[in-house]
Amino acid sequence: MASTSSTIPTSSRILNPALAQRTMSADEAAALIQPGSILGMSGFTGSGYPKAVPTALAKRIVAAHEKGESFKVSVFTGASTGPELDGALAKADGVNLRLPYSGDPEMRKRINGGETDYMDIHLSHVAQLVDYGFLGKMDVAIIEVTAILEDGRIVPSSSMGNNTTWINRADKVILEVNSAQPLELEGMHDIYYGLGLPPNRQPIPLLRSDQRIGTPYLKVPMEKVIAVVSTDIGDRASPFKAPDEASRKIAANIINFLEWEVKKGRLPSTLFPLQSGVGNIANAVLFGLEDAPFEGMTAYTEVIQDGMVQLLDKGKICSLSATAFSLSPDGIANIMPKIGSYRNQVVIRQQEISNNPEIIRRIGVIAMNAMIEGDIYGNVNSTHIMGSSMQNGIGGSGDFTRNGYLSFMMAPSTAAKGNISTIVPMVSHVDHTEHDLQVMVTDQGLADLRGLSPKKRARLIIENCSHPDFRPALRDYLDRAEKLAPGKHTPHLLDESLSWHSRFLKTGSMLPQ
Ligand code: COA
Repeated sequence: MASTSSTIPTSSRILNPALAQRTMSADEAAALIQPGSILGMSGFTGSGYPKAVPTALAKRIVAAHEKGESFKVSVFTGASTGPELDGALAKADGVNLRLPYSGDPEMRKRINGGETDYMDIHLSHVAQLVDYGFLGKMDVAIIEVTAILEDGRIVPSSSMGNNTTWINRADKVILEVNSAQPLELEGMHDIYYGLGLPPNRQPIPLLRSDQRIGTPYLKVPMEKVIAVVSTDIGDRASPFKAPDEASRKIAANIINFLEWEVKKGRLPSTLFPLQSGVGNIANAVLFGLEDAPFEGMTAYTEVIQDGMVQLLDKGKICSLSATAFSLSPDGIANIMPKIGSYRNQVVIRQQEISNNPEIIRRIGVIAMNAMIEGDIYGNVNSTHIMGSSMQNGIGGSGDFTRNGYLSFMMAPSTAAKGNISTIVPMVSHVDHTEHDLQVMVTDQGLADLRGLSPKKRARLIIENCSHPDFRPALRDYLDRAEKLAPGKHTPHLLDESLSWHSRFLKTGSMLPQ
């Protein structure tokens, strides 16, 4: 099976006779979902999410609304999905509560418009919160899979996310068998069923980033499966912007710093396992690593972007561990057809393992994540625009930043065509505290915050990371805060600390008027 081509018709992917009998259309499967249900869906950063059933459910919700009936569901996923899931359900005004990370523009509109409740949770926490019963009883799991084998074992799709927990906790399961996913994915996953619950949870026996500790197949109790639906709709991830000048400078700053750490003997020349966050800057750093003098690198990360695969192709990285592929449309077209050739170098795990804080801390992951803004003391906002609008969510950035061996937070020094300084006196929302990260990086330079007290951190961040257009005002703020604040440990002028944001909201610029 592993060597068969992905052009095999969908019907031959459902080899178990009992489950083949539960095959139905997406509309019929969606009709089995009740208003008010809590749904656990597969999907992580635009890959491996169900496409046909959520679209059919959105149609059903629109029809109910047209008849004056109320119909909303709660949607729990791994992370962001695609237009057929988040987009369609948001457009239908069909979502009561959404969690966790979501990057869909339609869903963002609903969340920021106040029509959909959203819970922003560390990705490593999501499965256990459901396991503990803190988030209610899950009704239906809707899981995209690549194939169902004759004995009922399931070949997962292009992401793992929280699938094991959803299948375990939901009363009922709907499987979407997607013939657009290459059959060569078989064998790439490593699903660990030994986690258990407190107080009897056992240590996870994973000692190296490339180790396998589980099985490649999902276990689904037959009696739970109420529908099997066939699809052939491909994953739809967002394209990356080509690395711009600022991203290239950020990448160079990080790479120079890593070279320095190797020279000082604090890192080996293979580095420690890399984690690289989502977004354009993170991808630019990966492209920057192609020409860096490190060989034999590894990755223990959340998503595999195009840049990671390119590092694998160039022989710079020798193994990748993640919970999902997160490829651009070009990446999907070029990498997925030959995915089988990476089977010995790539492991796809459930997100409880890929983002597990204990493993991240133990194997010494180097965490590199993007921020929206950072403040002079080292607090970071990764999620909110101007303190109140949700951009995407914290994702796994907290799992990796707090627990990494070295944690970088990076951003261009300005946003909104130079009208916003990404280095501010006080962040308008806090995701990562001054206690979590070690290094802040912008296109202007890098601030190594290790071993520094708050005031020393502030001077360094202002001098090394802020844009020259905003640097004098930041220096002036800190000078006056040091004189006038009642406490001299982390001096702030509370009347002024968020005035940069309110000035932007009033005038369209943070620059002093
Ligand atoms: N104030 C206001 N808006 C800002 C801003 C600031 N300080 N900084 C960025 N923005 C806006 C940009 O203008 C852009 O807006 P647009 O979409 O309307 O053009 C948007 O935020 C995204 O910024 P962009 O420069 O395209 O960054 P990105 O694609 O590199 O994403 C994050 C940056 C922080 C949004 C993204 O990395 C993220 O969601 N991070 C949190 C989750 C995470 O780190 N996950 C990884 C863990 S494995």
